[in-house]
Amino acid sequence: MATIGIFDSGSGGLSVYREIVKLLPYERYVYYADNAHCPYGEKTVSFIQDRARTITDLLLGKGADIIVVACNTATAAAIATLREGYPDVPFVGMEPAVKPAALDTKTGVIGVLATAGTLKASKYLKTKGRFEDDVHIVEHVGEGFVELVENGILDGPEAYATVKASLQPLLDAGADRIVLGCTHYPFLRPVVEAVAGPGVQVIDPAPAVARQTVRLLEKDCVPLDEGPFGIELLSSGDPESLHRIFALL
Ligand code: DGL
Repeated sequence: MATIGIFDSGSGGLSVYREIVKLLPYERYVYYADNAHCPYGEKTVSFIQDRARTITDLLLGKGADIIVVACNTATAAAIATLREGYPDVPFVGMEPAVKPAALDTKTGVIGVLATAGTLKASKYLKTKGRFEDDVHIVEHVGEGFVELVENGILDGPEAYATVKASLQPLLDAGADRIVLGCTHYPFLRPVVEAVAGPGVQVIDPAPAVARQTVRLLEKDCVPLDEGPFGIELLSSGDPESLHRIFALL
């Protein structure tokens, strides 16, 4: 049985856990929400790198065979240093799914919603640079999205107005593919789809990340499918929001 360690700044990474557990329903999961320090979006790179190391040590102490950095912001800031610092540990990271959106757009315009940290990171800028000649890429920080999810506000007028404020500029620019570049945002997907309307596709990289997790575990010959399923939910702050979102799954 594999032990799969997953972390995020908060409950958002559960949108990635949800996809992994579909493919690997008989493993042991340890999920860490760093909600005492959430949001990561505006934090410095060195702060996030420190937190990523501390959480990695904790997850390895819990027996993790693999670590899923279920956070675009933490991946952009810290995955390279994690891979360097822990060369024997397999890490899976998140990145806004620019490629599938760019290959699929009909209008030639794609919209990316992510945190400020992700949008200014060199990792994202490099990916963007590969597609910029062929498609127009417009971006917006999902202002207030993380706070909505952490507070369990996933629908209703406040969620609708908050989502519309960040999404409308992308729609006005002609985007027909909207990339969810933060793991909190899939919990607002129904609202994003309602605001975007038909003809606009919303893209979440979590299913691809789940497939990559399986590939890496298989590559390392970790025995899978032996069960029983188990999950440990840990958080650095008030566990309420984590348990609330977990209950929704
Ligand atoms: N869920 C995270 C991400 O994917 C970070 C959100 C935040 O803490 O700002 O980027």
